[in-house]
Amino acid sequence: MLDIAFSKPVPPKAGAVALLLAEEEALTGAAAALNEASGGAIARAIEVAAFKGQKGKTVLLFAPIEGLTRVLVVGLGKRAELTTLTVEEAGGAIAAALSQEVQATILAEGLAPSEAAHLGLGAVLRAYRFDLYRTKEKPEDKPKLTGITVQAEDHAKARAAFVPLKAVAEGIYLARDLVTEPPNVLTPTEMAERCRALTKLGVKVEIMGPKELEKLGFGALLGVSQGSVQEPRMVVMQWNGAGGRKPRKPLVFVGQGVTFDTRGISIKPASGMEDMKWDMAGAGAVVGLMAALAGRKAKADVVGLVGLVENMPSGTAQRPGDVVTSYSGQTIEVLNTDAEGRLVLADVLWYAQEKFDPAFMVNLATLTGAIIVALGQEHGGMFSNDEDLAQKLTSAGIATGEKLWRMPLGEAYDKAIKSDIADMKNIGGRHGSAIIAAQFIQRFVNSKPWAHLDIAGMAWSSKDTACVPKGATAYGVRLLDRLVRDHYEA
Ligand code: BES
Ligand code: MN
Repeated sequence: MLDIAFSKPVPPKAGAVALLLAEEEALTGAAAALNEASGGAIARAIEVAAFKGQKGKTVLLFAPIEGLTRVLVVGLGKRAELTTLTVEEAGGAIAAALSQEVQATILAEGLAPSEAAHLGLGAVLRAYRFDLYRTKEKPEDKPKLTGITVQAEDHAKARAAFVPLKAVAEGIYLARDLVTEPPNVLTPTEMAERCRALTKLGVKVEIMGPKELEKLGFGALLGVSQGSVQEPRMVVMQWNGAGGRKPRKPLVFVGQGVTFDTRGISIKPASGMEDMKWDMAGAGAVVGLMAALAGRKAKADVVGLVGLVENMPSGTAQRPGDVVTSYSGQTIEVLNTDAEGRLVLADVLWYAQEKFDPAFMVNLATLTGAIIVALGQEHGGMFSNDEDLAQKLTSAGIATGEKLWRMPLGEAYDKAIKSDIADMKNIGGRHGSAIIAAQFIQRFVNSKPWAHLDIAGMAWSSKDTACVPKGATAYGVRLLDRLVRDHYEA
Protein backbone atom coordinates (compact mmCIF):
# COMPACT_ATOMS: atom_id res chain seq x y z
CA MET A 1 0.00 0.00 0.00
CA LEU A 2 1.15 3.49 -0.84
CA ASP A 3 2.87 4.96 2.21
CA ILE A 4 1.27 8.20 3.42
CA ALA A 5 3.32 10.45 5.71
CA PHE A 6 2.46 13.85 7.19
CA SER A 7 4.92 16.64 7.86
CA LYS A 8 5.03 20.33 8.60
CA PRO A 9 5.26 22.64 5.58
CA VAL A 10 8.86 22.87 4.34
CA PRO A 11 10.00 23.87 0.84
CA PRO A 12 10.25 20.60 -1.15
CA LYS A 13 13.72 19.93 -2.60
CA ALA A 14 13.30 16.71 -4.58
CA GLY A 15 10.79 14.42 -6.27
CA ALA A 16 7.37 15.51 -7.47
CA VAL A 17 5.17 18.14 -5.89
CA ALA A 18 1.42 18.63 -6.06
CA LEU A 19 -0.34 21.84 -5.13
CA LEU A 20 -4.02 22.37 -4.55
CA LEU A 21 -5.85 25.36 -5.92
CA ALA A 22 -9.44 26.29 -5.18
CA GLU A 23 -11.53 27.96 -7.87
CA GLU A 24 -10.71 31.60 -8.55
CA GLU A 25 -8.04 31.68 -5.84
CA ALA A 26 -4.46 32.84 -6.32
CA LEU A 27 -1.28 30.92 -5.57
CA THR A 28 -0.42 31.74 -1.95
CA GLY A 29 2.00 30.59 0.72
CA ALA A 30 4.15 27.59 -0.22
CA ALA A 31 2.56 27.44 -3.68
CA ALA A 32 3.47 31.07 -4.35
CA ALA A 33 7.02 30.40 -3.14
CA LEU A 34 7.27 27.46 -5.51
CA ASN A 35 5.98 29.57 -8.37
CA GLU A 36 8.63 32.13 -7.59
CA ALA A 37 11.35 29.48 -7.51
CA SER A 38 10.18 28.38 -10.95
CA GLY A 39 10.58 31.89 -12.26
CA GLY A 40 6.83 32.19 -12.68
CA ALA A 41 6.58 29.04 -14.83
CA ILE A 42 3.73 27.59 -12.75
CA ALA A 43 1.59 30.71 -13.08
CA ARG A 44 2.30 30.84 -16.82
CA ALA A 45 1.29 27.17 -17.26
CA ILE A 46 -1.94 27.74 -15.37
CA GLU A 47 -2.69 30.74 -17.56
CA VAL A 48 -1.95 28.91 -20.82
CA ALA A 49 -4.08 25.93 -19.75
CA ALA A 50 -6.97 28.28 -18.84
CA PHE A 51 -6.94 26.52 -15.48
CA LYS A 52 -9.04 28.18 -12.79
CA GLY A 53 -8.97 25.58 -10.02
CA GLN A 54 -11.97 23.69 -11.35
CA LYS A 55 -12.74 20.41 -9.63
CA GLY A 56 -11.26 17.45 -11.46
CA LYS A 57 -8.90 19.57 -13.58
CA THR A 58 -5.11 19.41 -13.37
CA VAL A 59 -2.05 21.04 -14.94
CA LEU A 60 1.26 19.19 -15.12
CA LEU A 61 4.74 20.73 -15.51
CA PHE A 62 7.94 18.77 -15.99
CA ALA A 63 11.08 19.84 -14.13
CA PRO A 64 10.14 23.53 -13.75
CA ILE A 65 12.59 23.90 -10.87
CA GLU A 66 16.07 22.46 -10.39
CA GLY A 67 15.72 19.23 -8.38
CA LEU A 68 11.97 18.82 -8.75
CA THR A 69 10.82 16.30 -11.37
CA ARG A 70 7.18 17.31 -11.82
CA VAL A 71 4.82 19.88 -10.44
CA LEU A 72 1.11 19.07 -10.58
CA VAL A 73 -1.54 21.70 -9.92
CA VAL A 74 -4.87 20.18 -8.86
CA GLY A 75 -8.22 21.98 -8.88
CA LEU A 76 -10.41 21.74 -5.77
CA GLY A 77 -13.46 23.53 -7.10
CA LYS A 78 -15.20 26.21 -5.05
CA ARG A 79 -13.76 26.52 -1.54
CA ALA A 80 -17.25 26.89 -0.05
CA GLU A 81 -18.34 23.57 -1.59
CA LEU A 82 -15.33 21.59 -0.41
CA THR A 83 -16.19 18.18 1.11
CA THR A 84 -14.04 15.27 2.23
CA LEU A 85 -15.07 13.59 -0.99
CA THR A 86 -13.66 16.44 -3.11
CA VAL A 87 -10.39 16.21 -1.25
CA GLU A 88 -10.26 12.44 -1.72
CA GLU A 89 -10.80 12.89 -5.43
CA ALA A 90 -7.91 15.37 -5.52
CA GLY A 91 -5.75 12.77 -3.72
CA GLY A 92 -6.81 10.17 -6.27
CA ALA A 93 -5.98 12.47 -9.18
CA ILE A 94 -2.52 13.08 -7.71
CA ALA A 95 -1.78 9.37 -7.27
CA ALA A 96 -2.82 8.73 -10.87
CA ALA A 97 -0.95 11.65 -12.44
CA LEU A 98 2.27 11.01 -10.50
CA SER A 99 2.27 7.21 -10.71
CA GLN A 100 5.63 7.24 -12.54
CA GLU A 101 7.27 9.19 -9.74
CA VAL A 102 8.70 7.37 -6.72
CA GLN A 103 8.01 9.99 -4.09
CA ALA A 104 5.61 12.92 -4.09
CA THR A 105 4.89 15.80 -1.76
CA ILE A 106 1.49 17.48 -1.53
CA LEU A 107 1.34 21.06 -0.30
CA ALA A 108 -1.86 21.05 1.71
CA GLU A 109 -1.32 23.86 4.20
CA GLY A 110 -4.76 25.30 3.55
CA LEU A 111 -6.58 22.10 4.52
CA ALA A 112 -7.96 21.10 7.92
CA PRO A 113 -6.30 18.03 9.47
CA SER A 114 -9.17 15.71 8.62
CA GLU A 115 -9.16 16.98 5.03
CA ALA A 116 -5.43 16.34 4.78
CA ALA A 117 -6.05 12.79 6.02
CA HIS A 118 -8.79 12.23 3.42
CA LEU A 119 -6.40 13.49 0.76
CA GLY A 120 -4.12 10.61 1.73
CA LEU A 121 -7.01 8.16 1.68
CA GLY A 122 -7.98 9.20 -1.85
CA ALA A 123 -4.41 8.66 -3.05
CA VAL A 124 -4.21 5.22 -1.46
CA LEU A 125 -7.54 4.13 -2.92
CA ARG A 126 -6.58 5.19 -6.44
CA ALA A 127 -3.14 3.58 -6.24
CA TYR A 128 -4.62 0.09 -5.75
CA ARG A 129 -3.31 -2.51 -8.14
CA PHE A 130 -3.66 -6.31 -8.32
CA ASP A 131 -0.33 -7.71 -9.50
CA LEU A 132 -0.32 -11.32 -8.38
CA TYR A 133 -0.46 -12.93 -11.79
CA ARG A 134 1.70 -10.56 -13.86
CA THR A 135 5.13 -12.03 -14.46
CA LYS A 136 6.31 -10.19 -17.56
CA GLU A 137 5.38 -6.55 -17.16
CA LYS A 138 8.11 -4.18 -18.37
CA PRO A 139 9.56 -2.00 -15.62
CA GLU A 140 8.61 1.16 -17.51
CA ASP A 141 4.96 0.09 -17.50
CA LYS A 142 4.80 -0.48 -13.75
CA PRO A 143 3.63 2.27 -11.42
CA LYS A 144 6.51 3.43 -9.24
CA LEU A 145 4.93 5.68 -6.65
CA THR A 146 5.70 4.30 -3.19
CA GLY A 147 5.13 7.23 -0.89
CA ILE A 148 3.36 10.56 -0.53
CA THR A 149 4.12 13.17 2.09
CA VAL A 150 1.24 15.49 2.87
CA GLN A 151 2.42 18.82 4.24
CA ALA A 152 -0.17 20.24 6.60
CA GLU A 153 -0.18 22.92 9.29
CA ASP A 154 -1.44 20.58 11.96
CA HIS A 155 0.39 17.51 10.73
CA ALA A 156 0.15 15.62 14.03
CA LYS A 157 -3.65 15.87 13.95
CA ALA A 158 -3.73 14.89 10.28
CA ARG A 159 -1.55 11.85 11.01
CA ALA A 160 -3.88 10.78 13.81
CA ALA A 161 -6.95 11.27 11.60
CA PHE A 162 -5.37 9.06 8.96
CA VAL A 163 -4.99 6.02 11.27
CA PRO A 164 -8.65 4.87 11.08
CA LEU A 165 -8.85 5.82 7.39
CA LYS A 166 -5.91 3.57 6.67
CA ALA A 167 -7.72 0.68 8.35
CA VAL A 168 -10.70 1.33 6.07
CA ALA A 169 -8.36 1.38 3.07
CA GLU A 170 -6.98 -2.01 4.17
CA GLY A 171 -10.54 -3.35 4.21
CA ILE A 172 -11.17 -1.94 0.75
CA TYR A 173 -7.94 -3.48 -0.58
CA LEU A 174 -8.95 -6.84 0.87
CA ALA A 175 -12.40 -6.66 -0.73
CA ARG A 176 -10.88 -5.67 -4.09
CA ASP A 177 -8.39 -8.54 -3.91
CA LEU A 178 -11.15 -11.04 -3.20
CA VAL A 179 -13.33 -9.77 -6.04
CA THR A 180 -10.42 -9.66 -8.50
CA GLU A 181 -9.05 -13.15 -7.75
CA PRO A 182 -9.93 -15.61 -10.51
CA PRO A 183 -12.66 -18.16 -9.81
CA ASN A 184 -10.31 -21.15 -9.98
CA VAL A 185 -8.38 -19.66 -7.07
CA LEU A 186 -11.15 -18.06 -5.07
CA THR A 187 -13.43 -21.03 -4.43
CA PRO A 188 -15.80 -21.07 -1.46
CA THR A 189 -13.22 -22.96 0.62
CA GLU A 190 -10.43 -20.53 -0.26
CA MET A 191 -12.62 -17.52 0.45
CA ALA A 192 -13.52 -18.98 3.84
CA GLU A 193 -9.81 -19.40 4.61
CA ARG A 194 -9.24 -15.73 3.77
CA CYS A 195 -12.02 -14.84 6.17
CA ARG A 196 -10.28 -16.90 8.82
CA ALA A 197 -7.27 -14.57 8.51
CA LEU A 198 -9.37 -11.81 10.12
CA THR A 199 -8.79 -13.63 13.40
CA LYS A 200 -5.52 -11.73 13.71
CA LEU A 201 -7.48 -8.46 13.82
CA GLY A 202 -9.52 -9.78 16.75
CA VAL A 203 -12.51 -10.97 14.71
CA LYS A 204 -14.11 -14.22 15.87
CA VAL A 205 -14.47 -16.41 12.78
CA GLU A 206 -16.64 -19.49 12.49
CA ILE A 207 -16.73 -21.56 9.30
CA MET A 208 -19.43 -24.09 8.45
CA GLY A 209 -19.17 -26.70 5.71
CA PRO A 210 -21.70 -28.99 3.99
CA LYS A 211 -22.21 -31.26 6.99
CA GLU A 212 -23.12 -28.43 9.34
CA LEU A 213 -25.24 -26.71 6.71
CA GLU A 214 -27.13 -29.94 6.00
CA LYS A 215 -27.71 -30.44 9.68
CA LEU A 216 -29.08 -26.92 10.01
CA GLY A 217 -31.34 -27.53 7.01
CA PHE A 218 -29.96 -24.98 4.54
CA GLY A 219 -31.87 -26.55 1.65
CA ALA A 220 -31.94 -23.41 -0.48
CA LEU A 221 -28.20 -22.70 -0.30
CA LEU A 222 -27.26 -26.36 -0.70
CA GLY A 223 -29.48 -26.71 -3.76
CA VAL A 224 -27.39 -24.05 -5.52
CA SER A 225 -24.07 -25.63 -4.64
CA GLN A 226 -25.02 -29.27 -5.35
CA GLY A 227 -23.90 -29.08 -8.97
CA SER A 228 -20.36 -28.09 -8.10
CA VAL A 229 -17.43 -30.17 -6.88
CA GLN A 230 -16.53 -27.15 -4.73
CA GLU A 231 -17.97 -27.46 -1.25
CA PRO A 232 -20.13 -24.61 0.08
CA ARG A 233 -19.25 -22.61 3.15
CA MET A 234 -20.96 -20.18 5.45
CA VAL A 235 -18.68 -17.90 7.42
CA VAL A 236 -19.78 -15.98 10.51
CA MET A 237 -17.48 -13.14 11.55
CA GLN A 238 -18.04 -11.33 14.84
CA TRP A 239 -16.46 -8.08 15.93
CA ASN A 240 -17.34 -7.08 19.49
CA GLY A 241 -16.04 -3.56 19.81
CA ALA A 242 -18.78 -2.04 21.99
CA GLY A 243 -16.78 -3.13 25.02
CA GLY A 244 -19.51 -5.04 26.81
CA ARG A 245 -21.29 -1.84 27.69
CA LYS A 246 -24.91 -2.93 28.00
CA PRO A 247 -25.56 -5.96 25.82
CA ARG A 248 -26.75 -4.26 22.71
CA LYS A 249 -28.22 -5.96 19.68
CA PRO A 250 -25.54 -6.42 17.04
CA LEU A 251 -25.52 -4.84 13.62
CA VAL A 252 -25.69 -7.59 11.02
CA PHE A 253 -24.33 -7.56 7.48
CA VAL A 254 -24.92 -10.43 5.07
CA GLY A 255 -23.14 -10.95 1.75
CA GLN A 256 -23.92 -13.04 -1.30
CA GLY A 257 -20.84 -15.05 -2.20
CA VAL A 258 -21.38 -16.91 -5.45
CA THR A 259 -17.72 -17.45 -6.33
CA PHE A 260 -18.73 -18.28 -9.88
CA ASP A 261 -22.17 -18.16 -11.46
CA THR A 262 -22.39 -20.21 -14.67
CA ARG A 263 -26.11 -19.87 -14.13
CA GLY A 264 -26.44 -23.61 -13.64
CA ILE A 265 -28.75 -25.76 -15.82
CA SER A 266 -30.56 -22.59 -16.94
CA ILE A 267 -27.22 -21.83 -18.59
CA LYS A 268 -27.07 -18.86 -20.90
CA PRO A 269 -24.74 -17.71 -23.71
CA ALA A 270 -20.98 -17.71 -23.09
CA SER A 271 -20.43 -14.02 -23.80
CA GLY A 272 -19.46 -12.11 -20.68
CA MET A 273 -19.67 -15.13 -18.45
CA GLU A 274 -16.21 -14.36 -17.05
CA ASP A 275 -17.81 -11.42 -15.25
CA MET A 276 -19.55 -13.88 -13.01
CA LYS A 277 -16.37 -14.36 -10.98
CA TRP A 278 -17.50 -11.20 -9.20
CA ASP A 279 -20.86 -12.61 -8.21
CA MET A 280 -19.31 -12.77 -4.74
CA ALA A 281 -18.79 -9.00 -4.47
CA GLY A 282 -21.49 -8.68 -1.79
CA ALA A 283 -19.60 -11.17 0.36
CA GLY A 284 -16.29 -9.49 -0.52
CA ALA A 285 -17.67 -6.18 0.75
CA VAL A 286 -18.84 -7.76 4.00
CA VAL A 287 -15.41 -9.31 4.59
CA GLY A 288 -13.70 -6.00 3.75
CA LEU A 289 -16.09 -4.17 6.06
CA MET A 290 -15.30 -6.51 8.97
CA ALA A 291 -11.58 -5.96 8.35
CA ALA A 292 -12.12 -2.19 8.28
CA LEU A 293 -14.18 -2.12 11.48
CA ALA A 294 -11.83 -4.40 13.37
CA GLY A 295 -8.77 -2.62 11.97
CA ARG A 296 -9.95 0.72 13.29
CA LYS A 297 -11.35 -0.85 16.46
CA ALA A 298 -14.88 0.40 15.87
CA LYS A 299 -16.89 0.75 19.06
CA ALA A 300 -19.78 -1.41 17.91
CA ASP A 301 -20.86 -5.03 17.97
CA VAL A 302 -21.08 -6.23 14.41
CA VAL A 303 -21.67 -9.60 12.79
CA GLY A 304 -20.82 -10.30 9.15
CA LEU A 305 -22.11 -13.45 7.49
CA VAL A 306 -21.32 -14.72 4.01
CA GLY A 307 -22.86 -17.60 2.08
CA LEU A 308 -20.28 -19.07 -0.31
CA VAL A 309 -21.21 -21.36 -3.19
CA GLU A 310 -20.35 -22.06 -6.81
CA ASN A 311 -23.27 -22.36 -9.26
CA MET A 312 -22.43 -25.06 -11.82
CA PRO A 313 -24.30 -27.23 -14.31
CA SER A 314 -23.56 -30.95 -13.94
CA GLY A 315 -25.23 -34.32 -13.45
CA THR A 316 -25.80 -33.46 -9.82
CA ALA A 317 -26.98 -29.89 -10.41
CA GLN A 318 -30.33 -28.55 -9.35
CA ARG A 319 -32.98 -28.74 -12.11
CA PRO A 320 -35.50 -26.07 -13.08
CA GLY A 321 -38.63 -27.34 -11.36
CA ASP A 322 -36.95 -28.67 -8.21
CA VAL A 323 -38.55 -27.79 -4.89
CA VAL A 324 -36.22 -27.10 -1.96
CA THR A 325 -36.95 -26.49 1.70
CA SER A 326 -35.17 -23.45 3.07
CA TYR A 327 -33.77 -23.12 6.60
CA SER A 328 -36.85 -21.02 7.46
CA GLY A 329 -39.07 -24.00 6.63
CA GLN A 330 -40.58 -22.24 3.63
CA THR A 331 -40.50 -24.23 0.39
CA ILE A 332 -39.23 -22.80 -2.90
CA GLU A 333 -39.91 -23.95 -6.42
CA VAL A 334 -36.68 -23.28 -8.34
CA LEU A 335 -37.88 -22.34 -11.81
CA ASN A 336 -34.63 -20.78 -12.93
CA THR A 337 -31.27 -21.94 -11.60
CA ASP A 338 -29.83 -18.55 -12.55
CA ALA A 339 -31.82 -16.83 -9.82
CA GLU A 340 -29.49 -18.44 -7.29
CA GLY A 341 -28.18 -15.51 -5.24
CA ARG A 342 -31.55 -15.06 -3.55
CA LEU A 343 -31.55 -18.76 -2.58
CA VAL A 344 -28.22 -18.34 -0.82
CA LEU A 345 -29.32 -15.15 0.93
CA ALA A 346 -32.60 -16.73 2.04
CA ASP A 347 -30.88 -19.24 4.31
CA VAL A 348 -28.11 -16.98 5.57
CA LEU A 349 -30.50 -14.13 6.42
CA TRP A 350 -32.83 -16.44 8.31
CA TYR A 351 -29.90 -17.86 10.24
CA ALA A 352 -28.60 -14.37 11.02
CA GLN A 353 -31.80 -13.24 12.65
CA GLU A 354 -32.49 -16.52 14.47
CA LYS A 355 -29.02 -16.59 15.91
CA PHE A 356 -28.20 -12.94 16.59
CA ASP A 357 -31.43 -11.00 17.14
CA PRO A 358 -29.95 -8.05 15.21
CA ALA A 359 -30.65 -4.35 15.63
CA PHE A 360 -30.90 -4.36 11.84
CA MET A 361 -29.74 -6.41 8.88
CA VAL A 362 -28.23 -5.11 5.68
CA ASN A 363 -27.52 -7.55 2.88
CA LEU A 364 -25.38 -6.91 -0.17
CA ALA A 365 -25.69 -8.87 -3.39
CA THR A 366 -24.92 -8.67 -7.08
CA LEU A 367 -28.45 -9.91 -7.37
CA THR A 368 -29.97 -8.87 -10.69
CA GLY A 369 -29.12 -7.63 -14.14
CA ALA A 370 -32.35 -5.65 -13.90
CA ILE A 371 -30.95 -3.24 -11.32
CA ILE A 372 -28.22 -2.33 -13.84
CA VAL A 373 -30.91 -1.60 -16.43
CA ALA A 374 -32.66 0.62 -13.88
CA LEU A 375 -29.80 2.52 -12.24
CA GLY A 376 -26.74 1.96 -14.42
CA GLN A 377 -23.39 2.20 -12.70
CA GLU A 378 -24.17 5.30 -10.64
CA HIS A 379 -26.31 4.07 -7.77
CA GLY A 380 -26.74 0.81 -5.93
CA GLY A 381 -30.39 -0.21 -5.56
CA MET A 382 -31.74 -0.08 -2.01
CA PHE A 383 -34.86 -1.89 -0.82
CA SER A 384 -35.87 -1.43 2.78
CA ASN A 385 -38.73 -2.01 5.21
CA ASP A 386 -37.45 0.73 7.52
CA GLU A 387 -37.50 4.50 6.88
CA ASP A 388 -34.83 5.32 9.43
CA LEU A 389 -32.32 2.75 8.17
CA ALA A 390 -33.00 3.77 4.57
CA GLN A 391 -32.36 7.43 5.43
CA LYS A 392 -29.11 6.65 7.19
CA LEU A 393 -27.90 4.52 4.30
CA THR A 394 -28.79 7.21 1.77
CA SER A 395 -26.78 9.81 3.71
CA ALA A 396 -23.79 7.49 4.15
CA GLY A 397 -23.87 6.94 0.40
CA ILE A 398 -23.74 10.65 -0.35
CA ALA A 399 -20.91 11.20 2.15
CA THR A 400 -18.74 8.42 0.73
CA GLY A 401 -19.66 8.68 -2.93
CA GLU A 402 -21.06 5.12 -2.80
CA LYS A 403 -24.51 6.30 -3.72
CA LEU A 404 -27.79 4.45 -3.23
CA TRP A 405 -31.19 4.94 -4.76
CA ARG A 406 -34.25 3.64 -2.99
CA MET A 407 -36.52 1.31 -4.91
CA PRO A 408 -40.07 0.29 -3.99
CA LEU A 409 -41.38 -2.84 -2.32
CA GLY A 410 -45.04 -3.83 -2.17
CA GLU A 411 -47.57 -6.60 -2.07
CA ALA A 412 -48.46 -6.29 -5.71
CA TYR A 413 -44.87 -7.20 -6.63
CA ASP A 414 -44.91 -10.05 -4.14
CA LYS A 415 -47.76 -11.74 -6.03
CA ALA A 416 -45.33 -12.44 -8.87
CA ILE A 417 -43.56 -15.16 -6.90
CA LYS A 418 -46.66 -17.20 -6.06
CA SER A 419 -45.96 -20.83 -6.95
CA ASP A 420 -48.45 -23.48 -8.03
CA ILE A 421 -46.89 -26.20 -5.89
CA ALA A 422 -44.69 -24.58 -3.20
CA ASP A 423 -44.71 -21.55 -0.89
CA MET A 424 -43.02 -19.45 -3.55
CA LYS A 425 -41.05 -19.66 -6.78
CA ASN A 426 -37.65 -18.08 -7.29
CA ILE A 427 -38.53 -15.93 -10.32
CA GLY A 428 -41.45 -13.72 -11.37
CA GLY A 429 -41.86 -12.02 -14.71
CA ARG A 430 -39.27 -9.96 -16.53
CA HIS A 431 -40.84 -6.63 -15.62
CA GLY A 432 -39.58 -5.16 -12.35
CA SER A 433 -37.47 -8.24 -11.71
CA ALA A 434 -35.01 -6.46 -9.39
CA ILE A 435 -38.01 -5.59 -7.20
CA ILE A 436 -39.40 -9.10 -7.43
CA ALA A 437 -36.00 -10.44 -6.31
CA ALA A 438 -36.16 -8.08 -3.32
CA GLN A 439 -39.66 -9.33 -2.49
CA PHE A 440 -38.32 -12.86 -2.50
CA ILE A 441 -35.59 -11.90 -0.05
CA GLN A 442 -38.05 -10.05 2.16
CA ARG A 443 -39.90 -13.32 2.71
CA PHE A 444 -36.87 -14.36 4.74
CA VAL A 445 -36.89 -11.26 6.92
CA ASN A 446 -38.84 -11.57 10.10
CA SER A 447 -40.03 -8.02 10.85
CA LYS A 448 -36.51 -6.73 11.58
CA PRO A 449 -35.30 -3.41 10.19
CA TRP A 450 -33.68 -4.57 6.98
CA ALA A 451 -32.18 -3.22 3.80
CA HIS A 452 -31.22 -5.14 0.70
CA LEU A 453 -28.58 -3.52 -1.49
CA ASP A 454 -28.52 -4.79 -5.06
CA ILE A 455 -24.99 -3.87 -6.12
CA ALA A 456 -24.81 -5.68 -9.48
CA GLY A 457 -24.06 -2.39 -11.27
CA MET A 458 -21.53 -1.17 -8.73
CA ALA A 459 -19.22 -4.07 -7.96
CA TRP A 460 -17.02 -3.78 -11.03
CA SER A 461 -15.99 -0.66 -12.91
CA SER A 462 -15.14 -0.70 -16.60
CA LYS A 463 -13.21 2.59 -16.31
CA ASP A 464 -10.90 4.42 -13.92
CA THR A 465 -12.59 6.97 -11.66
CA ALA A 466 -10.97 9.41 -9.22
CA CYS A 467 -10.52 6.99 -6.32
CA VAL A 468 -11.33 3.66 -7.94
CA PRO A 469 -9.14 2.17 -10.63
CA LYS A 470 -10.86 0.06 -13.28
CA GLY A 471 -11.93 -3.33 -11.91
CA ALA A 472 -13.19 -4.38 -8.49
CA THR A 473 -14.58 -1.36 -6.63
CA ALA A 474 -15.19 -2.78 -3.13
CA TYR A 475 -18.46 -0.84 -3.26
CA GLY A 476 -20.18 -1.11 0.11
CA VAL A 477 -17.14 -1.12 2.40
CA ARG A 478 -16.91 2.66 2.74
CA LEU A 479 -20.67 3.07 2.72
CA LEU A 480 -21.29 0.67 5.59
CA ASP A 481 -18.22 1.71 7.54
CA ARG A 482 -19.63 5.23 7.41
CA LEU A 483 -23.10 4.04 8.48
CA VAL A 484 -21.57 2.40 11.54
CA ARG A 485 -19.28 5.35 12.30
CA ASP A 486 -21.99 8.00 12.03
CA HIS A 487 -24.77 6.27 13.96
CA TYR A 488 -23.78 3.21 15.94
CA GLU A 489 -20.56 3.90 17.80
CA ALA A 490 -20.80 4.81 21.44
N1 BES B 1 -25.47 -12.69 -10.72
C1 BES B 1 -26.58 -12.51 -11.58
C2 BES B 1 -26.97 -11.03 -11.71
C3 BES B 1 -25.95 -10.18 -12.40
C4 BES B 1 -26.05 -9.96 -13.76
C5 BES B 1 -24.95 -9.55 -11.70
C6 BES B 1 -25.12 -9.16 -14.40
C7 BES B 1 -24.03 -8.77 -12.34
C8 BES B 1 -24.11 -8.55 -13.70
C9 BES B 1 -27.78 -13.28 -11.04
O1 BES B 1 -27.45 -14.50 -10.49
C10 BES B 1 -28.67 -13.53 -12.20
O2 BES B 1 -28.24 -14.13 -13.11
N2 BES B 1 -29.88 -13.05 -12.12
C11 BES B 1 -30.83 -13.20 -13.17
C12 BES B 1 -32.18 -13.39 -12.52
C13 BES B 1 -33.26 -13.88 -13.45
C14 BES B 1 -33.00 -15.32 -13.84
C15 BES B 1 -34.59 -13.77 -12.74
C16 BES B 1 -30.85 -11.91 -14.01
O3 BES B 1 -30.68 -10.83 -13.47
O4 BES B 1 -31.03 -12.04 -15.22
MN1 MN C 1 -27.36 -16.17 -11.57
